[in-house]
Formats: sequence, structure tokens, C-alpha cells
Amino acid sequence: MTSVLVASVAQIPPDSALGVQIATQSATVIGRSRAEGPPDTLPVVVVHTADGEWFAAGDQCPHRPYLLSGGSLYGCQLECPGHGSRFDTQSGQSLNPPAVGAVPTYPVTVTGEEVYIELPTPDPEPPRKGKKGKAR
Ligand code: FES
Repeated sequence: MTSVLVASVAQIPPDSALGVQIATQSATVIGRSRAEGPPDTLPVVVVHTADGEWFAAGDQCPHRPYLLSGGSLYGCQLECPGHGSRFDTQSGQSLNPPAVGAVPTYPVTVTGEEVYIELPTPDPEPPRKGKKGKAR
């Protein structure tokens, strides 16, 4: 697992969510999440509930490329701004159509004033195959 500093506690007050775009190779936040971000990046929504719990989940609806962070938060459920499916940010599961399935979830750790999520360690890049020359 790789820890990624995603925000300060002050950036995500209780009963709010923040979408961030993470560069997976460098494990750094490169800005706010985007529905169709650059390659090798991951949109993640970090949720701070009114009860003080923290969750993190994939920030892209599996139905269409809408950001869940652009929707409304109800407890630990995020409602997609596209067509209203709700997602349990603890399990990632969609709770009503039209979206089906789940978004990935990530463990959250708060250390002092810093909020971290844990991402699976990326696979190392496979060795590139060299161009084979013609035998002479
Ligand atoms: S885009 Fe999310 S429910 Fe349709």
C-alpha cells in the first residue's frame, strides 16, 4: 500500500466531500478530480461525514463519466449528479439504478491535520520490448 497525502482536515469540514486527482506513479495529488483525467491518474472522493467518519472512494460514476464529488452527500452516501444513483462510500456499492456495481474504496487515515488515503502499490512498469532488427 502507498500512503497519499490528499488534503488537510480543514479542507474537508464535517458533512462535506472533496474530489482529488492523484498521479498514481508519484502518489501525489495533482489537483481537483476530473471526469476524464490524464492517463495514470485516479479520481478519488474523500468524504468527511457529519459524525466525524472518513471514507474515500473512486470519484467516477460507473454509469457515465460524472464525478460523485459533484453530487450531494447524505451521511456516508453520495448521490451522483448525473442521474441520481447513490453510493455507499464505505463499501463503494451503488444503492439504486441506473448505476450498477461499485466504485473502489480506499482506507483513510487522519494524522494530526493531514488526511491520507492508502492506494494499492502500482505494479512496476513491465520491461519494454526492444525493436527487433533484421538479421543480416
Ligand atoms: S451518471 Fe451517475 S447515475 Fe448516471
